[in-house]
Amino acid sequence: MDRSYTIRKKLGSNQIIWGVFTLLLAISSCKSAKDKLPEERAQAILNEMSLEEKAGQMTQLSIEMILQGKDQFNLTKPHALDTVRLRKVLVEMGVGSILNVPGNTFTLAQWKEVSEALHAYRMQTRLQIPVLYGIDAIHGANYTVGATLYPQQINLAASFNTDMIADMATNTANDVRASGLAWNFSPVLDVARNPRWPRFWETFGEDPMVASCLGSSMVKAYQMPSKNGLPGVAACLKHYVGYGDARSGMDRTPAYIPERQLREIFLPPFAQAIEAGAQTIMINSGEVNGEPVHASKFLLQTILREELKFKGITVTDWEDIKNLYERHKIVSTYKEAVAVAINAGIDMAMVPLDTLFTHYLIENVKEGNISMTRINQSVLRILTLKFKLGLFEHSPANSSKYDSIGSDQSKELSLALATQSLVLLKNSNQALPLSPTEKILVTGANAHYINALNGGWTHTWQGRDTTYNSEVPTCLEALQNIHGMDKVVYLPGNTYDTNLSDEALLAAAKNIASVVLFLGEDTYTEKPGDILDLELSAAQQHLIKVYKQAGKKVIVVLLEGRPRTFANTESLCDAIIFAGLPGDAGGTAIANVLCGLSNPSGKLPFTYPRYSSFHLTYDCKYTEVLNKDFKPLGFNPLFEFGSGLSYTGYVYSNFTCDKESYTLSDTIKMNVTISNIGNMEGLHTALFYSKDEVASITPSVKKLRAFRKIFLRPGASEIVSIELPVQHLAFVGLSNKWGVEPGSFKLSVDTLSQNITITNQ
Ligand code: BGC
Repeated sequence: MDRSYTIRKKLGSNQIIWGVFTLLLAISSCKSAKDKLPEERAQAILNEMSLEEKAGQMTQLSIEMILQGKDQFNLTKPHALDTVRLRKVLVEMGVGSILNVPGNTFTLAQWKEVSEALHAYRMQTRLQIPVLYGIDAIHGANYTVGATLYPQQINLAASFNTDMIADMATNTANDVRASGLAWNFSPVLDVARNPRWPRFWETFGEDPMVASCLGSSMVKAYQMPSKNGLPGVAACLKHYVGYGDARSGMDRTPAYIPERQLREIFLPPFAQAIEAGAQTIMINSGEVNGEPVHASKFLLQTILREELKFKGITVTDWEDIKNLYERHKIVSTYKEAVAVAINAGIDMAMVPLDTLFTHYLIENVKEGNISMTRINQSVLRILTLKFKLGLFEHSPANSSKYDSIGSDQSKELSLALATQSLVLLKNSNQALPLSPTEKILVTGANAHYINALNGGWTHTWQGRDTTYNSEVPTCLEALQNIHGMDKVVYLPGNTYDTNLSDEALLAAAKNIASVVLFLGEDTYTEKPGDILDLELSAAQQHLIKVYKQAGKKVIVVLLEGRPRTFANTESLCDAIIFAGLPGDAGGTAIANVLCGLSNPSGKLPFTYPRYSSFHLTYDCKYTEVLNKDFKPLGFNPLFEFGSGLSYTGYVYSNFTCDKESYTLSDTIKMNVTISNIGNMEGLHTALFYSKDEVASITPSVKKLRAFRKIFLRPGASEIVSIELPVQHLAFVGLSNKWGVEPGSFKLSVDTLSQNITITNQ
């Protein structure tokens, strides 16, 4: 097991937080006096500012705009800062925020150079307002050379380990700050209900409760001061709201979400993260119900500001003000788009590659299309955040006060998280773990390909650059290290879409009984990751067929950002591991699991579909589940939400609730005993569901209400206690309001269940 990291203390639970009601009540509450100070300081500066200076603060440009080159699309290489552009952007325009990297990752020295330049030019401005730098450090500081890379969010969710996820966020905040940056565009709180969506892997999966718990715990950890009292980073919740549910499954295409679903499925992760103190939020590039979110007063004001009481900064996504006229066609000019977005509630525009936004913003104010009150509101928020992050006091030298990046401790954490994120979906006849003496053939497009472990947002946007991370072992190399060079035969040459001849495939497996296939996807994010078909490529499935027909034991490891379907070949596999995108330590984690040095404990945070064109989430409705009359036509996924096997066995017993009947203000106390009846120690996540037997809005067949991760030695048992407020059984009713309807409910864990009644009194 992962002894090096203190797993026993680092377990997951959602017991701290979840609860739509409690959080909505709590949100409205007080700010501490300490928080008032930054606002007062911000107000004092705001009082001094000209319209032009204010417009500058609301502008965010990409780093290309201050680098040397013919223009921002044709940069000089190696990259160098351009003093003329720096002066124009920072001094003349007074731009308040910069983001991104110019297509490659920076070393700490390069980041230092950037910070020093931004500081030097800021000091030449009248009010010396610091620049806020934003970065997508979504699985570690993935744009800083040498920083530890962790699993992507879909894997974090599979680990169900809230404590370790928070530790990862703490380390990431440190590494981002050590790079001189203070704003992290993370976490993604989109709820992934459509597996074709190319950003599926950037999410915590399909369940809003899981996304709420893990997301808010990440937010707190990002924003918390370091152990030495240095400021953390500002988190940025993405992408508010409904982005993950595009009807077509294609990136940035329309979503149609009834208000009830919006409130029940898509808003809760944002609500809980706001309650946890999230300082910024990025807006969904797409449209919901025909309205681009960047233009929606309902979503940006009524819900975000008035209901969720969000006090921080709203930032657009990439070019999304321009997109209001170029792509969404709701206005016919850029200038009108600026007025629409700012009046809808946008505080800062991620422009990011032109200077027109600032210009049009000023013109719109002068012409009365945008009020000065509206501008002041945004600028006050931006300046307040800069004070809160300590940027006014910050000098580039402060970065070196943070811990050094890439520590051994962070690498151990990355390995532990990667290990706990691997989901053993199938293990017929104990095909795994491999016997220490058995010789294996390793092949498949992802066997010896480091990028397949990390996915997008890894050193580059698409994560395809192969010049980084050469010291990190691929799956093949890790297997060679752990299982032994002499027992691992590698067959290169099979890609996602083409294979060697069947003869060559079989010749390589001569005298070898077991074949380990590393299948899945190449890396992608956003639009480039759009697909027309969810089915795993034919060539990859052919490998399964060829080896099974030849009588081999076929072990499949899926490195993929979304569940690619393979129903016709799944039955031919002896063992299947969903490895997702486990990060730099993924190769070692996978090899450890294959060889039995680690016991798998991941659970699927999504439903793995059987068919490429038919998908339901686990919380589907009664009319959608499998039934005897229409047998194959109902809910029948390849692997259910929460699936995940182990090399040991767990038995549940004595599931009890403290009462049979509860009132609306009660808390249900559940106990269940879990025993490890196998002979290997292991981590195990218990998932607690509820079922509303009858409700005025058709109830889901089940809803996840709580989870708890425990560690059990062989022969050991533990009583897991869960306290579930009755209010957590609420749903959004016909009036679009949350409420619990009294009546009969079933609570369940594993195969055990208890019936309870909820009464009004
Ligand atoms: C993505 C965001 C990201 C931003 C800045 C956009 O294209 O949608 O998730 O934070 O770029 O890199």
